[in-house]
Amino acid sequence: MALPKIDPTTTPSWQQLTAHYEAIKALPLKSLFQNDPKRAETFSIEWDDFLVDYSKNRITEETVQLLLQLAREMQLGTAIEAYFSGDPINETEGRAVLHTALRATREETVMVAGKNVIPEVYEIREKIRGFSNAVISGEKRGYTGKSFTDIVNIGIGGSDLGPAMATEALGFYKNHLKTHFVSNVDGDHVHEIIKKLDPETTLFIVVSKSFTTQETQSNAETLKEWFLQHAPETAIGKHFIAVSTNLEKIREFGITEDNVFPMWDWVGGRFSLWSAVGLSIALSVGYENYEQLLQGANAMDIHFKEAKFSENIPVILALLSVWYNNFFGAETEAIIPYTQYLHRLSAYLQQGIMESNGKSRARNGERVGYETGTIIWGEPGTNSQHAFFQLIHQGTKLIPTDFIGFKKPLHGNQQHHNKLMANFFAQTEALMNGKTADEVHRELKNSGHSEAEIQQLLPFKLFEGNKPTTTILADTLSPKNLGALIALYEHKIFVQGVIWNIFSYDQWGVELGKQLAKTILNELENSELGNHDGSTLRLIQFFKE
Ligand code: F6P
Repeated sequence: MALPKIDPTTTPSWQQLTAHYEAIKALPLKSLFQNDPKRAETFSIEWDDFLVDYSKNRITEETVQLLLQLAREMQLGTAIEAYFSGDPINETEGRAVLHTALRATREETVMVAGKNVIPEVYEIREKIRGFSNAVISGEKRGYTGKSFTDIVNIGIGGSDLGPAMATEALGFYKNHLKTHFVSNVDGDHVHEIIKKLDPETTLFIVVSKSFTTQETQSNAETLKEWFLQHAPETAIGKHFIAVSTNLEKIREFGITEDNVFPMWDWVGGRFSLWSAVGLSIALSVGYENYEQLLQGANAMDIHFKEAKFSENIPVILALLSVWYNNFFGAETEAIIPYTQYLHRLSAYLQQGIMESNGKSRARNGERVGYETGTIIWGEPGTNSQHAFFQLIHQGTKLIPTDFIGFKKPLHGNQQHHNKLMANFFAQTEALMNGKTADEVHRELKNSGHSEAEIQQLLPFKLFEGNKPTTTILADTLSPKNLGALIALYEHKIFVQGVIWNIFSYDQWGVELGKQLAKTILNELENSELGNHDGSTLRLIQFFKE
């Protein structure tokens, strides 16, 4: 079944939301709380280890009802069914979108082109288990008989960001293996990593769904060359692993069949950490933790599939995002995790969200007449408070912000954790309440300022407030909760794509730059310059001088 092709702006709910926005856009959140003592309960969802509180958003019960109606009018229920059952909803590439099958239970059946893929998924999982256990225990060794000490993941985009983010996020659970990530085609990146490596004890994992990506190919070749300056050709079999769908290219590179972890074309790059792309995660934190990560994602999948829309976390968060993007005109969203472990989360989600929903063509091929993909950014709190929070508090832009926090710290330092979380709670409160002229006046007076000074300073110390936030508070940053959190955002992406009537699972927009770079590379390496605009030509000439 294909996804329906409905222009969301033609639905009755969209029209109603437009009128409703005019009616409630200026309502202060503060008064909504004053008038409804149960607001926090009404607009929150408790699920598993999570409390998702969306009550500090500029919504009323009517807003939520209209947004839910929009979801129904866009046939979200049918779309979810198509997504999970392996229908080729990635229509422009003719593919199913089944990262959810990678974390399904062994008992489930997921059919792709008439075949249940679950046995194959588990076969590869077993291979990941066996391999990671053998490397971690030292049973598998390098060409001189030494145990491995370092793992290098060579990949880019989804073949880098997912594992890089997750190994950092699960840093607390890490074993003795040091993990490195080489992604950029910038040679300085790979050479900086090489400085840290010993060829006798380093394992290289070349991760590339296509095995044709320029960056990954170049880095893999450079690392192989460096490795062979120290080791014999036969050692490649012990030190180079590949994760890919392209078996022929892997063979050409010289990686032996045993060392190949296959992928499937029904797993999109930016959703692939649940496949063997996550091998570096399993190596870094051990297979049991890796499996917990998958189980957490599976639990969120079940929640998303089964919970009513009104109690469904990804559905609600996606609809809120649509509300701000399409009615309030908000262009960006911030994601602020209050844990240093999640310092790569927003970089990871930038690919997930912006590569998926950064589209301007509706499913019928016509240009959309409304805004789609939100811009995502963020850094951990409290660092971000001392960097860009000024703009969220007092700037002119509306930036709906997700605050992600945990009840317990991992190292058990409760004093630090209380300070961290005091900031976490204080920020969402401050963003909502702001500070009125009366409050500023009183404060300045109490600190001894004259009336003249107060009048001069007052406008700068005002906080308008009414800045929307959503709080995601979970028990601990466990592998399971991390899996659920990532899956939450994955499904949010899906729901938004359904509402916006776009194809979320292709990425044609990255192709043009790749094509032009190939032509220009040729010109940089040879003398003839091609046909370019004046600026590009001048820049290339300056580079070559
Ligand atoms: O940049 C486009 C892209 O295709 C991403 O979607 C993908 O994650 C990345 O390149 C890497 O691709 P591959 O795994 O095929 O090397």
